[in-house]
Formats: sequence, structure tokens, C-alpha cells
Amino acid sequence: MFIKNHPNAAKLLSSLRNTGYDSYAAVEDIIDNSIDAEARRIKIGISIIGKEPRVTIADDGSGMTKEILDEALKLGSETEKDEMSDLGKYGMGLCTASISMAKRLKVITRKAGGEYLSSVQDLDEVVKANDFIKELQEADKEDVTLFKELVESEHGTLVILSKIDRLSNTNTSIFSATLSKEIGRIYRKFIEAGIEFRVNDKKVEAVDPLMPDLKGSQIYSDEEYELPSYKGKEKVNIKVVFLPSVNEELEKEYKMNITSQGFYVLRNNREIAHGQTLDVFKKHNDLNRLRIELSFTSNLDNEMGVRFTKDGVSPSQAISDFLKQEIGGQIESIRKTVIKSRVADKSKEINHDDSAAVIAKKSKLLITPDAIIERRSPKVNKGDRKEKPESDETRDRTPKETRVSSSGLGARFETLSMGREGALYDCYQEGKVVVIQWNVDHPFYERIILMNKDRKDITAGIDYLIYALASAELKTVNDDNTELISTIKSIMSSNLRALLS
Ligand SMILES: Nc1ncnc2c1ncn2[C@@H]1O[C@H](COP(=O)(O)OP(=O)(O)OP(=O)(O)O)[C@@H](O)[C@H]1O
Ligand SMILES: [Mg+2]
Repeated sequence: MFIKNHPNAAKLLSSLRNTGYDSYAAVEDIIDNSIDAEARRIKIGISIIGKEPRVTIADDGSGMTKEILDEALKLGSETEKDEMSDLGKYGMGLCTASISMAKRLKVITRKAGGEYLSSVQDLDEVVKANDFIKELQEADKEDVTLFKELVESEHGTLVILSKIDRLSNTNTSIFSATLSKEIGRIYRKFIEAGIEFRVNDKKVEAVDPLMPDLKGSQIYSDEEYELPSYKGKEKVNIKVVFLPSVNEELEKEYKMNITSQGFYVLRNNREIAHGQTLDVFKKHNDLNRLRIELSFTSNLDNEMGVRFTKDGVSPSQAISDFLKQEIGGQIESIRKTVIKSRVADKSKEINHDDSAAVIAKKSKLLITPDAIIERRSPKVNKGDRKEKPESDETRDRTPKETRVSSSGLGARFETLSMGREGALYDCYQEGKVVVIQWNVDHPFYERIILMNKDRKDITAGIDYLIYALASAELKTVNDDNTELISTIKSIMSSNLRALLS
């Protein structure tokens, strides 16, 4: 016979403070509810009341009946949902998001023509009673006044977070500015559809990382794909964009960098991840102008690995393989185009064959990255797919990578024109070869390598040094440290430039 087995309320709610939300993701999860309630205007307020920070989210959406409000402040609430469009799904967001940053959650709500209602959950009270208790009643005068002031509509909902002790940035003006930027990007589709967002009374503009208005952008593809899914045929939309080459100042402004390159993942039109590789490619400065928008509906949450905090994805291997097969060729083509545009003046090339031969001979003694063996998969019929601007011989090759431990990798030296301010060298791996690209514009190349091109002992020594650095880089690089490695290389290149200039 089964008997009731209630959890320990104090412990459960306290531990739910650590579900992995940062305060931005927490506020955004509460905003999701406003969008699901069909709000047209959502106002976020971050202020200091007394000495305590307070966060409010006010919407002019449908508001809640007493029954729904009763559900809303429950863990695992049960309310009607539409998988194809609603952002909420798990019945956890409101409670878990708010408790991650604030001990007290108050909701004041009103349906058109209905009564003003208010409900409060307070962690201190739950801990004291060691029971899931809350207030649920008609709103008092003060609450109604605040509702009218902030919601500015006959119907809607006001969420108030107080007793805030875990704000991601305790400087509230920096917090507001960062939040505003995130909202502009994350909810860009909703802003474009006319929903107004305000943070501390400042209107938020949509920010699209694919920059559709930027002149010279190339849309490589914009298509719907049927995904392999155990439920049958699920569709995703993928748009691959190659941003134009711009000057350094604009590169900074447009965030053409390691962090921002890659996938922007939209779930039911709301961004849940940005600047991701999804295990489809490796981050590299050559791909700083690559932006891919991947959109799907929430019935693919399992395959896409969406957490209930909805602030990230980790797709299954099958999905990563599928994406690699469909757009891996396009990414490769973008990389090659970037490299081609930097081909150096032939007169600056010097012969590195002897160094490469020594490296190949000694490769078994060296610590090098694993070799990448490409398996060719069968040609896919692209059918009615739109053509992208450039022909690309790699597109149908659809490489699938397998990393095999190998005893040593050979080397190839190339020369590229990456600008005086660029890195000293760049490197990538091609199968069993570490490819090193010298930047011929860097003063080190001009002053040391070219000046000593007849001194084989000197150039070989430099080649070995750079090969050793490149192997170490490629051996250790991963999604989490790409930016760090890139920064180290950039500082090293800059110091060397200063010393030789
Ligand atoms: N601003 C709001 N306006 C109207 N109803 C709301 C609002 N906020 C919450 N609700 C109601 O409360 C319910 C619970 O919200 P909660 O965020 O906890 O879960 P959810 O949105 O259903 O799922 P998820 O955990 O995925 O966010 C919602 O389904 C909705 O019915
Ligand atoms: Mg929700």
C-alpha cells in the first residue's frame, strides 16, 4: 500500500534556488509568461526601494483568474499549453526563476472586468512553516495602486520580486543595461511583430545578430529541413548568413568575433542560445562572420536538449550529425572564402619544406592533436533547395569527422595577409596535418623571417617554435577555452609587434 510522501518544503524550495538560472535568464523566463498571456506591452523595472533591489515585470496580457493564479504559484503547475507556440511548458518557470534570485515573489493580476487578485510566496515563511504555504487573496488598495501605475491597462499581471539576494550584477544600472540588450536580441521576433518592451521606461529595440540590413551580407541558405526524430517528421528552419568584410572598428561594433560566431537557436521564436557550435564546427577567427539561425518548435525539446530554464541547448549526437551533413559544407566554404581573401603576395613566401620534413620525421615523438579522419557519406539529393551565391565543391562531401589518436601530425606552412594588427600566425587542422598560416603583414614576419630567409638554421628554429605552439593550441582548444586561447595569441602578437616596431 502506498502512503503519501511529501517532500520537505523548506529543503526543496531552498535547493531549487540553485537550478542554474542567472538573474537575466530568470527575468526572461517570467517575461515568457507575459508573452504567452498575449501581452502587447511588457515593462521591466529595476529599482532600489529603501536599500533593497526590487524587480518588477508588468504586462498588459490576459491576467489570471483565481484558479489559475492558485496554480501559477505552485511548483509543477498545470495549465493549458500550446506546444507549437507557447514559450512555457513545464509549469516550473515562475516559481523557480523568481526563487533563484529573490526570496519573495508577489503576483498581482486582473482579468478584464474581473477583480484584482494578489498572491505571495515567501521563502522565509515556507522555511518557518516547513510547508508550501502562500497568500492568495483579493488585492489590497496599495497593490491595486501599484498595478495601475505599472501595468497601465485594465487587465494584465504584475510580478514583483523582492528580498533579492542573488542578483547577477549588484550594480543595478549595469544589470538593467545588460538585461535590456539581451531582451532586444532574445525577443527580436516579438519586437518585430509589434510587442513593446521597456526596461526602466526605456524602449528596447530589436537586435538581430544576422543583421539583415547590413549591405553585402550573403544568405547562403534559408530552408526548412525535416529532422530525424523519434516522433516522426519534425521541421526546423536553418538560415546561414555570411556577413560582409568590414573595417576593424565596425568588426568590434558588429561583434564579429569568436563569441558571436555560430548558431543562434530560436525555440518558438524566442532565442534560447547564442554563438554556439552545436558540435558542428570548431570556433575559429576565420568564422567570425558566420551566423546561423536555427529555429524549431518546443515539441523538439528532447532532441534539442532544452533545459526547463530554457537558456541553452545541447542537441543529441544524431541532430549534430544531421546539421553537419546539411550545412557543414557551407561552413567550410565560408572558411575557404575567408582564407582565399587573405592570400599573400607570392614574393613574401619562403620555403619551409625542410622544416615540414623534419617535423614529419619526428612526428612520432611529438605531442600533437588527434588526427581527423573524414568519412564521406552518401550524396544527398538537395532537390528543390535554393542555390547559394557561390559554387562549392565541398558542399556534397558532407564530411563526418572521426578523431583517431595518432602518433604525431605533419605540418604545412602557408602565408596569409592578415593585416599589421592581426595575429602573428593562425592554425587549423586538416586531417593528419597541422596547417600553420604565417601573417606576412606582422612585423615579426617582415623583420625576422624574411630578413633571415637564407639562414636555414634560424628559419627552421622559428618554424619549429610556431609548430610547437600550434600543436599545443590545437591539442587543447575546446568550446570553453577558444576565447582565452585567442586572447593569449592576440596579446602575444601585439607585444611582439610593439617590440619590433
Ligand atoms: N504574466 C502572466 N499572465 C498570465 N498568466 C500567467 C502569467 N504568469 C504565469 N501565468 C500562469 O501561470 C502558469 C505557470 O507559469 P510558470 O512559468 O510557472 O509555468 P509555465 O509557463 O506553464 O511553464 P514553464 O515552466 O515552462 O515556464 C502559466 O502557465 C500561466 O497559466
Ligand atoms: Mg513560464
